[in-house]
Amino acid sequence: MTFQRTLVTSALPYANGPVHIGHLAGVYVPADIYVRYLRLKGENVLFVGGSDEHGVPVTIRARKEGITTQQVVDRYHQIIKDSFEGFGISFDVYSRTTSNTHHQLASEFFRHLYDNGKFVEQTSEQFYDPETQEFLTDRNIRGECPRCHAAGAYGDQCEKCGATLSPDELINPYNAINGNPLTKKETKHWYLPLDQYQEWLEEWILQEHKEWRPNVYGQCKSWLDGGLRPRAVTRDLDWGIPVPIEGAEGKVLYVWFDAPIGYISNTKELCDAHPEYGNWETWWKDPSTRLVHFIGKDNIVFHCIVFPTMLKAEGSYILPDNVPSNEFLNLEGDKISTSRNWAVWLNEYLVDFPGKQDVLRYVLTANAPETKDNDFTWADFQARNNNELVAIYGNFVNRALVLTKKYFDGKVPAAGTFNEYDQTTIAEFQNVKTEVEKLFNDFRFRDAQKEAMNLARIGNKYLADTEPWKVAKTDMERTATILHIALQIAANLSIAFEPFLPFSSAKLRQMLSMSEL
Ligand code: 2FM
Ligand code: ZN
Repeated sequence: MTFQRTLVTSALPYANGPVHIGHLAGVYVPADIYVRYLRLKGENVLFVGGSDEHGVPVTIRARKEGITTQQVVDRYHQIIKDSFEGFGISFDVYSRTTSNTHHQLASEFFRHLYDNGKFVEQTSEQFYDPETQEFLTDRNIRGECPRCHAAGAYGDQCEKCGATLSPDELINPYNAINGNPLTKKETKHWYLPLDQYQEWLEEWILQEHKEWRPNVYGQCKSWLDGGLRPRAVTRDLDWGIPVPIEGAEGKVLYVWFDAPIGYISNTKELCDAHPEYGNWETWWKDPSTRLVHFIGKDNIVFHCIVFPTMLKAEGSYILPDNVPSNEFLNLEGDKISTSRNWAVWLNEYLVDFPGKQDVLRYVLTANAPETKDNDFTWADFQARNNNELVAIYGNFVNRALVLTKKYFDGKVPAAGTFNEYDQTTIAEFQNVKTEVEKLFNDFRFRDAQKEAMNLARIGNKYLADTEPWKVAKTDMERTATILHIALQIAANLSIAFEPFLPFSSAKLRQMLSMSEL
């Protein structure tokens, strides 16, 4: 299949707090690198993002801060959007799942599956607070841990002994918010029968997508080997998209049902308002569109199994061609944690390190958790800034430009005849281009950035070996050729680094008076 366009999505972050370096390293920088690369190649690409504004996490945040859920999502949507803009994450659209377009589209999507008999209905007993008359989600149920008997274990996990729990196992469960004892009450929900798609998923993923990253493929295989079961796609909750069928009052779509549809709604919102982006249905339904989801590893099952099943059940959509998921980034050897406030928040970094977005982008890519969890340390941040960005990239560009100013009044000198060493150097930097492109196509951005840095290394070596500052004493024609080549390398550097260091590349292009990439 030759694809004609690429639709790139990056996971929609929950609008329940600011985003941190883990988000940036795992999802948004790699996605941005990839789309910038495709744009450089002149490909037709659309980059879709947005905030995930439904689900329990935002309602918990609202309670904690004593404000309404709407106020929470309004506040964090803006903070997150500004952070991404600040770091040059070049979305074509960044919208939100509380938009009208999304509510309507997600609702229609559900209804379509419902009308075509794609769900199974099931009634079960769930924990209920008779006083507030609400059903409780796992996280809002607490009680005594059946394993270690600690008080206050959550319905999904005991933080004392680490056991994974289900609310049914808790001893004396109570409402985490008001302490009320709980009863059980029957409630009806709609389930996506993943078990019915098991065989198809095995064929589609395990046979047809062996090229997916080993961590992604491996996780899918273990889910499939364990046997899929139906998953509820509705919840008893008062925040979300109402279930659009009679008799479902007080129920909303499960956040993991509506959130991925957000990719579609945001595309629609953009294309409807700006026809120059094309028709949203071409992006989502034409088999010549290549769909790529950038996500973190905790999202793999939803993007590789649940969402594709939803799309398959609907029938008219394309499926993802690849789902490059990263592992996690730790901070100074410890897991990044919002509740323990152990993170580098992007909105704070932008204030504390003005103009230094590229440094963080560079370090996060150099250390990207592509194949295993990785660690961010400030010592490494400093070392990479000083020893790589300054000592290799900056040093080369500085020397090439200062020498040009000194000997040629800042004008690019015309080259004379290339000698053998010049030709070898030129061939070397052409090889870098081929190698970098190969790595981009394999989603190996860490190695691609390393390879791009080789251009600057080639430049430094070329200047050190040819010593134009000495040659200038006797031979201006040769000096012109050397600096001509050095400036060509600098120009290539600005192109090779555009996906990684967009701010620095723009500055370098300006210094070189390069109008275009
Ligand atoms: O894990 C998360 O942060 C989710 N909000 C990701 C959703 S991705 C997509 F489905 F929207
Ligand atoms: Zn326990």
